[in-house]
Amino acid sequence: MTQEQRVAKHAFYTSKDPGNQLEDNYRHLLGIPGARHAPGPVKLMPWVEPMPAKKAVAAKKAASAKPAIGRKALSEPAASAWLQLLKKTLVRYPLEPAEMDLGREMSEVEPALRSEIERWIDLNHRRQLHESGPDHAVRLEGKDWPATAETMMGLQRMDHMLNCLLDALRGKIPGDLAEIGVWRGGVGILMRAVLRAMGDTRRKVWLADSFQGHPRPDPRQYPADRDDPHGTFAELVVSQDTVKQNFDRYGLGDNQVCYLTGWYRDTLPTAPMERIAVLHLDCDMYESNIVALRSLYPRVSPGGYVIADDYGAIAQCRQAVDDFRREQSINIELQRVDWTAVCWQIPEAAAQG
Ligand SMILES: C[S@@+](CC[C@H](N)C(=O)[O-])C[C@H]1O[C@@H](n2cnc3c(N)ncnc32)[C@H](O)[C@@H]1O
Repeated sequence: MTQEQRVAKHAFYTSKDPGNQLEDNYRHLLGIPGARHAPGPVKLMPWVEPMPAKKAVAAKKAASAKPAIGRKALSEPAASAWLQLLKKTLVRYPLEPAEMDLGREMSEVEPALRSEIERWIDLNHRRQLHESGPDHAVRLEGKDWPATAETMMGLQRMDHMLNCLLDALRGKIPGDLAEIGVWRGGVGILMRAVLRAMGDTRRKVWLADSFQGHPRPDPRQYPADRDDPHGTFAELVVSQDTVKQNFDRYGLGDNQVCYLTGWYRDTLPTAPMERIAVLHLDCDMYESNIVALRSLYPRVSPGGYVIADDYGAIAQCRQAVDDFRREQSINIELQRVDWTAVCWQIPEAAAQG
């Protein structure tokens, strides 16, 4: 990111949305006092450890023969231990020493997945120290663009997401799980893991993204997006191949994970999912949020959840959600998840609205 882009990013998150000033986490990019991180470029660690060429070929062959993901539900203790570990690993939040001891609960997890888990616990432990240093609050709150974590969401929002997913599945709320704004895929990975843990082989995880970043603002149609800089940030561009590799790294890529690749205006109105149990909107711009809501909200089942990640942090997202709720006369109370995300649950008995 150039200095000019950094200035634009800072200006966007502060002056365009003055109420968001206290939440601004981008000061470190400009070296402004109050920074949460030391100024300076983030040092990236490569995901794939270097290995000799011969070994790399063997590893490639092994990776292409993906083991099938187990179909039987895990016991409650195994599911809970695994999902807690996975969630913290995806966020790069420090693990308690006790959590790193996989223990008896994990004996139910198939050996391939178990060794994967052991591997990423080890990697996570090293990475989290490297990445977040002593300031774990940043990853608790998810106010940064982390260097290696598969999600920008902080632990608090991931906790809430996990609760919504478990609640929807336990409550047998009909429908698939939809991640609108995928980035590196962390939330989708958690969604797929919950299906695995509960032995749900029927529902799909839908991942909607351009996989080339945000669209150019269209201020004629969506004036709120005028000056939106998201499309200029290279950090926000993550390819579909990278997301697929991230799923595979956690042993969770299979045909229950479906990709909706392209701009939302082209993909979402005709997206082939019928019902949705959990709809997660994490796509920053007015256009992206309003298109997603208009296309997908009618498919959210009674009892299902709608989560708008950027409501507190980004004025355009807030405006899109508020406009849509007004447009559809939705009076269901908005629940605050953390400093930015909000959520509402469609009442079970009532028709939407
Ligand atoms: C903030 S990131 C998503 C973060 C992710 N949910 C996580 O947990 O880390 C926003 C993503 O939305 C995508 N995006 C935003 N607007 C879009 C649009 N109109 N069409 C397609 N993709 C879009 C971007 O490519 C980017 O990957």
